[in-house]
Amino acid sequence: MMPIFSKDCKSLLCKYLTREVYDDLKDKKTSNGFTLKDAINSGVVNIDSGIGVYAGDAESYELFSPLFDPIIKEYHGFGVDDIHKSNLNLDDLDIKNPDPDGKYIISTRIRVGRNLKDFPLGAAITKEQRDEVQREVLEALKALNGSYYPLEGMSEEIRAKLTKDHFLFKAGDRFLEAAGLNRDWPKGRGIFHNDEKTFLVWINEEDQLRIISMQMGGDIKEVFTRLVLALGEIEKSVKFSYSNHLGYITSCPTNLGTALRASVHIKLPKLGSDMERFKKIADKYHLQIRGVDGEHSESKGNVYDISNKRRLGVSEVECVRDMYDGVVALICEEEG
Ligand code: ADP
Ligand code: ARG
Repeated sequence: MMPIFSKDCKSLLCKYLTREVYDDLKDKKTSNGFTLKDAINSGVVNIDSGIGVYAGDAESYELFSPLFDPIIKEYHGFGVDDIHKSNLNLDDLDIKNPDPDGKYIISTRIRVGRNLKDFPLGAAITKEQRDEVQREVLEALKALNGSYYPLEGMSEEIRAKLTKDHFLFKAGDRFLEAAGLNRDWPKGRGIFHNDEKTFLVWINEEDQLRIISMQMGGDIKEVFTRLVLALGEIEKSVKFSYSNHLGYITSCPTNLGTALRASVHIKLPKLGSDMERFKKIADKYHLQIRGVDGEHSESKGNVYDISNKRRLGVSEVECVRDMYDGVVALICEEEG
């Protein structure tokens, strides 16, 4: 049955799931058995969703395009005839540390999401396939310096500390839960990282891989460089799901394209007391404001997570540049 949304529902799902779209898609199923009901369940259960949909495989984006296309258009400003282009050329990112004295920026983090080419995405994957993804990714990570810490068997104390220190994904996310992305938890999930915890890979959370580079301070170029070099190593042994139209295929349409989120944790007490002005600058520079514990969290002590909002139809270099330009503008405003 077509879901009925309350009047105050603001998700893109309730905006674009019209009766016509619903009737057109309700009986369709991808070759992995993923249905419209599966794609929309998270937004139906969580009426405070901003988006509300997840894909179960690359095919979902084609089969359910009457629903996904307008959502992608509204979030990324990216139309059905547009083409995505990747650019990871380090020489094209000409930036300096926007806060060399460390007055504002606490830390910098850049992550990309990736999924393996020959597997369904997490919402439609089987337990055996998920275990196989973990095995193939760990094989590829042998080329990099670090160790793997599976979630299964990890003490609650260590898990909670890794999450609190911003290194590990949180457990029990209700949006992922309703999307079917937490099935068989904690099996097949884990975190790989180097000793310094400046390079990390999350395995089998929202996406099969979240490849992360992070460090204290505001040297964005150094963080991006570490990420790009590691990506090159990983891609020598695994093939990622990529489409010429949508770029890297991800579970959530907000991450399509580059799947890159470049963020700083930044202290902005003045702007924090004038949220209207803060949001205006954020919109102008295509920034997203999150709380200090990540998505759906609140700011603490005037520290915000500032990141690029656009990920599709712009290259990786442009995504990082969006964040850099915005942070420069925010610091200028804070000082002015
Ligand atoms: P994602 O980056 O994968 O979209 P979240 O917004 O949930 O997901 O962030 C994941 C974790 O990364 C959270 O603990 C968050 O606080 C941490 N994080 C994000 N940006 C930074 C940063 N610049 N410095 C330190 N930790 C960060
Ligand atoms: N499904 C959630 C919502 O619609 C999250 C969307 C974006 N975030 C993400 N982690 N994919 O609000």
